[in-house]
Amino acid sequence: MVDGETKICGIIGNPVGHSLSPAMHNAAFSELGLNFVYLPFPVQKEKLKEAVEGLKALGIKGGNVTIPHKSEVIKYLDEVEELAQRIGAVNTIVREKGKLRGFNTDALGFKKALEEKRIKLEEREVILFGAGGAAKALAFQLASEGSQVTIVNRTLERAQKVKENIESKLDREVEVLPLSEKEEVREKMKEAEIMTNATSVGMREQKSIVPKDFLHPKLVVMDIIYTPVNTKLIKQAQEVGCKKIINGVQMLVYQGALGFKAWTGEKAPEEVMRKAVLEELA
Ligand code: ATR
Repeated sequence: MVDGETKICGIIGNPVGHSLSPAMHNAAFSELGLNFVYLPFPVQKEKLKEAVEGLKALGIKGGNVTIPHKSEVIKYLDEVEELAQRIGAVNTIVREKGKLRGFNTDALGFKKALEEKRIKLEEREVILFGAGGAAKALAFQLASEGSQVTIVNRTLERAQKVKENIESKLDREVEVLPLSEKEEVREKMKEAEIMTNATSVGMREQKSIVPKDFLHPKLVVMDIIYTPVNTKLIKQAQEVGCKKIINGVQMLVYQGALGFKAWTGEKAPEEVMRKAVLEELA
């Protein structure tokens, strides 16, 4: 029940109507009997500054930031922790001693989803599709764990920017390829041990970023999309018999669990969160 003591968390983005974070976090608050509520806050680009000021003024406990504000929000927060600063994107906000601090839990959520399947990233050949907000965090995490990363993107310049950011901050080289260079992408896929889709291709559509014959049984395939849970890429990977297959639900839950812990001080009930997400999706 909401009362005078209820602590408020929320997600700012545009759109936020499809976000699964409210269902996931409210289920977790309820499971632990915490007097918290998590709300969706649709915020347009030109209102971001005012929205963040509003979070400060209203004493909001924390929350998440999603498309299209993950990078922009940085300049309005009081503090940004080092990893988020280095990635150049914030997906989680926490009020600490009256100040709003930005974090990036996408990178660590991704890492945990792989670790859970006992996938090591050191010295691995990884092909990452995408160069948007999510891909930025993943590419940085992969490079900092010691993977050999190739970023493939429709717009090469965006991939180039992600590469430059990583190379300026880490002692690693990153390769880039345009998605249109089909034969080069095919060759790269043959060498790759891990493939991750961080584009929006496959979201609410039966499309895959690669043809099925680019996949091979020795490949680990991870899709960060979770709408639907079984994307076309995940189905292709199942048909090819790829070594390990990871859908986007795990990363969603783990990035959320890290935020939950920061807002409440309690260990997140991950199973309850996963169940809430799957129920929402069904
Ligand atoms: P997010 O923050 O979720 O990563 P985004 O910044 O809009 O969202 O990035 C979306 C990613 O999906 C980008 O890599 C985008 O490619 P471009 O940089 O060329 O725009 C990719 N993407 C979206 N639609 C695509 C499509 N139809 N084909 C290939 N790539 C696509």
